[in-house]
Amino acid sequence: SDSITSPDVYAPTGLTYDDVLLLPRLTDVVPSEVDTTSRLTRRISLATPLVSAAMDTVTESAMAIAMARQGGVGVLHRNLPIEEQAEQVRRVKRSESGMVTDPVTVGPGATIAELDRLCGHYKVSGLPVVEEDGSLLGIITNRDLRFVPTDQWSVLTVRDCMTPRERLVTGPTGISREAAKALLAEHRVEKLPVIDPDGRLTGLITVKDFVKTEQYPQATKDDAGRLVVGAAVGYWGDTWQRATALAEAGVDVLVVDTANGGARLALEMIGRLKSDPAFSGIEVVGGNVATREGAQALIDAGVDAVKVGVGPGSICTTRVVAGVGVPQVTAVYEAARACAPAGVPLIADGGLQYSGDIAKALVAGADTVMLGSLLAGCTESPGDLVFVNGKQWKRYRGMGSLGAMSSRGRTSYSKDRYFQADVSGDDKLIPEGVEGQVPFSGSLADVVYQLVGGLHQSMFYVGARSVTELKERGQFVRITSAGLKESHPHDVKMTVEAPNYTGRPE
Ligand code: XMP
Repeated sequence: SDSITSPDVYAPTGLTYDDVLLLPRLTDVVPSEVDTTSRLTRRISLATPLVSAAMDTVTESAMAIAMARQGGVGVLHRNLPIEEQAEQVRRVKRSESGMVTDPVTVGPGATIAELDRLCGHYKVSGLPVVEEDGSLLGIITNRDLRFVPTDQWSVLTVRDCMTPRERLVTGPTGISREAAKALLAEHRVEKLPVIDPDGRLTGLITVKDFVKTEQYPQATKDDAGRLVVGAAVGYWGDTWQRATALAEAGVDVLVVDTANGGARLALEMIGRLKSDPAFSGIEVVGGNVATREGAQALIDAGVDAVKVGVGPGSICTTRVVAGVGVPQVTAVYEAARACAPAGVPLIADGGLQYSGDIAKALVAGADTVMLGSLLAGCTESPGDLVFVNGKQWKRYRGMGSLGAMSSRGRTSYSKDRYFQADVSGDDKLIPEGVEGQVPFSGSLADVVYQLVGGLHQSMFYVGARSVTELKERGQFVRITSAGLKESHPHDVKMTVEAPNYTGRPE
């Protein structure tokens, strides 16, 4: 009865977040006591099931660091040269850990001015000083430079000002967290270089890392205590080189990021990554798909998570430009019919407007959600604040928008996401996204607090203590446009903006 003309063009109904609500159920769950831990990939779990989108106005290192600290994860965008993306990975991996295993160092002959630039670039307050063979000569920090006049900076060298090896407290390779903490406390120092029996630097432990561990107990970390980070790659051209550079930089998750995960080239790239031992420690995510068939193809190719969403994004025009897509709740539900039996986690990517959409996505079959517009307004997203009519905004654009895909004097790495890498002139591109702005929303921590808080409320209403219980107990009711109108504030003029509701977009 649902078909239009013939069984060949059968048209089932597609539903999205605004079409459904979760039924309230009998509950003795308290919102503050729920556990939102969920699976990002086969091997990685997140305390907070949120992923920031691989978009050049959403995720660079600052966002990825902030996301991982909050228990989520960021996927670094790929609209930049390979070396720059790899450097972003290194920044996240270096940002905190039990121990930095690959610390930035400086040679003894560098001038103080050079050192200052290096510290500024890596956002650190000091560096270990090493000989070319890696042996530790000393350490140089703000403290050593306190009485060095700035007009001497281009003349004096690191060797002239550093605290030499003999006056340093160091720890042996393999030192435990507790022993390191005790040494730092006993000697009242902030940095503890770790050295092997030959005196070569093998790591660096800093007080800041211990403070951060206490400050961000939910943080998503790898086995070495470093923040977990994802990065997007393509499926052709220099993708192999990019993936290799990212792997060498320590990336945890590679996302083969395309607008159509069912494309043969994308599936082949996933297969290659999954079968090469060089990537054996790295999780590979594929996407995007919006059907059971698409999800199954990714699973067969070997992915560690399936990313779902064709056209739901706030800045997407794929559905109108190409007439292709599946409303997101149905897309997630259908893809989950392949993912759940295979035990492969599902990431619901795009289209979330409010915190309530997170629980809807999870009930439909997702394990985590990927967010663009909800995070693009944060302090940690790339780009400056824009002032319009006295209000603060941040720029947000689709990776398939003309701005992201066109070269404008540089190389665009974004066009192949939309399978238009072979298009030479900018005027020949077919955009599948738009460029715009979103209201400035403050720090990511505050935004995530509201999003996760909303999820806690959902879980309370449904009577679920865990994400697994939420999936089991969650039931939808389908609503009409009158129901949607009733759901939002109505018949009042909003006079105060809530931190989790700024009104319905026009
Ligand atoms: P939200 O709704 O969170 O969506 O802003 C973010 C997701 O949208 C996808 N994306 C695009 N899709 N054209 C598209 O069709 C585009 O230009 C575009 N840019 C991003 C992407 O999956 C992202 O995570």
